[in-house]
Formats: sequence, C-alpha cells, structure tokens
Amino acid sequence: MIHMRLIALASGKGGVGRTTIAANLGIALSKLGKSTIIIDASLTSPDLALLFKLEKSVYTINDALAGEASLSEILYTGPSGVKIAPAAVTLEQIRRARPERMPELLRTVPEKTDFVIIDAPSGLRRETIAALRAAREVLLVTTPDMVSVSDCMKTRLIAEFLGLTPIGMVLNRVRGEEFEIESNEIKTILNVPVLAEIPEDEGVKLALNQGVPLLVLDAKSPAAKAIMGLARRLIGGRGKVSKAAA
Ligand SMILES: Nc1ncnc2c1ncn2[C@@H]1O[C@H](COP(=O)(O)OP(=O)(O)O)[C@@H](O)[C@H]1O
Ligand SMILES: [Mg+2]
Repeated sequence: MIHMRLIALASGKGGVGRTTIAANLGIALSKLGKSTIIIDASLTSPDLALLFKLEKSVYTINDALAGEASLSEILYTGPSGVKIAPAAVTLEQIRRARPERMPELLRTVPEKTDFVIIDAPSGLRRETIAALRAAREVLLVTTPDMVSVSDCMKTRLIAEFLGLTPIGMVLNRVRGEEFEIESNEIKTILNVPVLAEIPEDEGVKLALNQGVPLLVLDAKSPAAKAIMGLARRLIGGRGKVSKAAA
C-alpha cells in the first residue's frame, strides 16, 4: 500500500482543466506501464464520464458512495488499460451519493495499483473536503490569471489544514501572452514547484468534440506532450525531475 500514490487534482476555480488533465494524465501513466485509476470525485460537475464516453454507465461512483456497489463494480477500462470510476450525470443520482464516504471507498483500491488520480471538485465545498481527505498528495491546477491563482491559494491552505502535501502545480492553458502572470511569479505566490506547463491547445477541443481523449487522438499535440512530461515527472519522484522527462 505504501508505494501507492493517491493524488488529487485540485483548484479553487472551476474550468481550469482538472478533468482534462486527470483523464489524460491517467492515460499517460498507464502508457508508461503504471497501473492507474482515475476517480471522478467532482460529483456535482461529473465530466470525466463524457471524456471517456461513459455517461451511459450502469454503475457509477454514486452507487458506490451510496453503499450499493463496490469499487471494482464501478471501474471501467479505458485507453492503455487505465481504469475509470465515472460519476453519474443525472440529478437524481447526484443527490443519492454521499461524498463523505470517498475516503472509505478509496481505502478499497486494489493494492497493486500504482496511481490513483482524483478529479477533485473546485471550491471549498463538502465534496471538495471529502475528495481531499481521500488523497495523500495534492497537485494544484491553475491557469495563469490572478483569479485562478488566488483561488488556488485557498485550496492550498485547505489541503495543508488537512495534512496534505501540495507536491506542486500544473499551469494550464498557457498562451505566452503579455497579460498572463508568469510562471515564476505564480510559483512564488503559491510556493510550490511548477511540475508542468500545458499550453492552450485546440487539440483539447477537437478531442472533446470527437469523444476521444487527446492522448489517444493526437499524442504529438503540444498539450498531450506536456501531460506525458507531467506523468514522467510524477513517476520520477515527488516533484523531482526524472531523466526520462528531460
Ligand atoms: N490546455 C487546454 N487548451 C485548450 N482548452 C483547454 C485546455 N485545458 C482545458 N481546456 C478546456 O477548458 C474547459 C474546462 O476544462 P475542464 O477540464 O472541464 O476544467 P475543470 O475540470 O477544471 O472544470 C473545457 O472546455 C476544456 O476543453
Ligand atoms: Mg471538471
């Protein structure tokens, strides 16, 4: 169990790319030979299923959180063998789930698993705390703008309050434009290393449109390459750059 990494992708603001990164990072880690599970803990914005075309799944994490299914019953196999625990998209199912059961549920992850990537909800809601409590490490996700960075700061504080190590941040949708806050400045504000800079990439939208994850549709696109780099870096150690990532 000790070697297993339970990493929550967390942010203060919604729409910064957590779900996109969770889905593709999960595939990237699997491609690199790591047994990986992606968990949709973002119960009130359950978007992970859409990225894997799992929105018609009979069993979801909502059933597991309602105590009516086991984790193994709600895991679906995706590209490169990544396992996905989708959340239900209907309002009735969303209401049934008990988010506070998330830590208990994730204690049943099979021991041979290398990585559990948790798509945590944004903000500081009850379900956010539950998702963070289920994790052992936190990876902050932000876009290079002041609102997103400032909200991320609050998430960092909550994570620390819960005793979690923020291992770093991912800067997403970087366009290199003048009005963006520079990565060095964000690093200073959040006081965590930047583990990846993912560029704004129209491939992300194209992939969404085609219902195929970006890493499957176009592994050579700039955002896909950055996410592969992030996966290598995570495998290399906690915040350390591995040789493979260089
Ligand atoms: N690197 C990127 N380049 C272009 N579009 C992106 C990128 N990352 C995310 N997006 C888009 O931004 C929107 C929000 O992403 P999403 O992953 O759903 O964010 P969150 O889960 O944080 O709410 C989606 O429309 C997604 O396609
Ligand atoms: Mg999301």
